[in-house]
Amino acid sequence: MTASSESASSPLRGKIALVTGASGGIGLITARELARRGARVVMVCRNPERGEQARTAIREAVGSDAQLDLLLCDLSLLANVRTLAGEVTRRFNQLDILVNNAGIFPGPLTITEEGHELSWATNHLAVFALTNLLLPQLLAAPQARIVTVSSEAHWLGEIEQSTEARNAPEKYSSFTAYCDSKLANIMFTSELAHRLDLTKVTANCLHPGMVDTGLVNTGSSPLMKAMWWTARPFMISPEKGARTSIYLASSPEVESVSGKYFKNRKPTRASGRSQSRPEAARLWRLSQEETGVE
Ligand SMILES: NC(=O)c1ccc[n+]([C@@H]2O[C@H](COP(=O)([O-])OP(=O)(O)OC[C@H]3O[C@@H](n4cnc5c(N)ncnc54)[C@H](OP(=O)(O)O)[C@@H]3O)[C@@H](O)[C@H]2O)c1
Repeated sequence: MTASSESASSPLRGKIALVTGASGGIGLITARELARRGARVVMVCRNPERGEQARTAIREAVGSDAQLDLLLCDLSLLANVRTLAGEVTRRFNQLDILVNNAGIFPGPLTITEEGHELSWATNHLAVFALTNLLLPQLLAAPQARIVTVSSEAHWLGEIEQSTEARNAPEKYSSFTAYCDSKLANIMFTSELAHRLDLTKVTANCLHPGMVDTGLVNTGSSPLMKAMWWTARPFMISPEKGARTSIYLASSPEVESVSGKYFKNRKPTRASGRSQSRPEAARLWRLSQEETGVE
């Protein structure tokens, strides 16, 4: 293979990409396709067996020369997120691509041992903390991209302004909690893109489509499981669901695009609330207080 044909088939050669939730669903396909394009992929998974199975599956699909690091982390706890960020910082001088993909659709109200509602902790606080803790590595890359997997569910979201309100059993609904966390993903991305203006780091987010994955699982409410099973025939495969994540993480077309919400590899309209600068700035301050990350 000549040097030019190798760079055409491996456009991400020399780049380091971290994908959270790489053990299954959209994250596994995203990690696989970034590895196929030549990136060294840091797979962040919480379950060692599922993580190893995913790594083996990617090797089998891409080839034995795929460069895959597996880091274990339950992202629902900020202490773990800090340990993960420390490990990544120790191992890598720079990070070219960060895909905040891991997420849950919560079941009954669960408060983590650090005092946060589980989906808020996993879907938003971990994203906020990990991204900010890895910013020095991202800023050290010649050009870096942050991609966060949100959802059209954000249209129904609202941001509670206190932990107490979010954790109140009488107000809790798993559906609302999920929507709120996905709204936070978009508000976080637009504030982050604003703060990274004039740097070579971009931040975008996306809706992957309705994707047939394990997002709604045995822990979900019977109503949610019934709705999910009814919708399954109309859902797209994880391969298709990962396309926009892969596009934002790797396509030259979006190298300098930042602060946008994508669907089907195109920028699309997000809710008015998600685009409010004052609300995004307020969420940023709230997230700083709740994570202790500046
Ligand atoms: N599926 C859809 O229709 C849809 C629609 C809109 C948005 N999304 C978003 O797409 C993203 C990926 O979801 P998916 O549909 O691919 O679901 P999935 O198959 O359930 O994958 C979720 C991934 O996140 C990981 N994860 C969950 N909690 C974690 C934790 N505490 N620490 C570390 N990893 C954790 C899971 O690990 P385990 O393997 O250990 O469970 C899994 O790898 C999520 O952010 C979701 O909100 C999905």
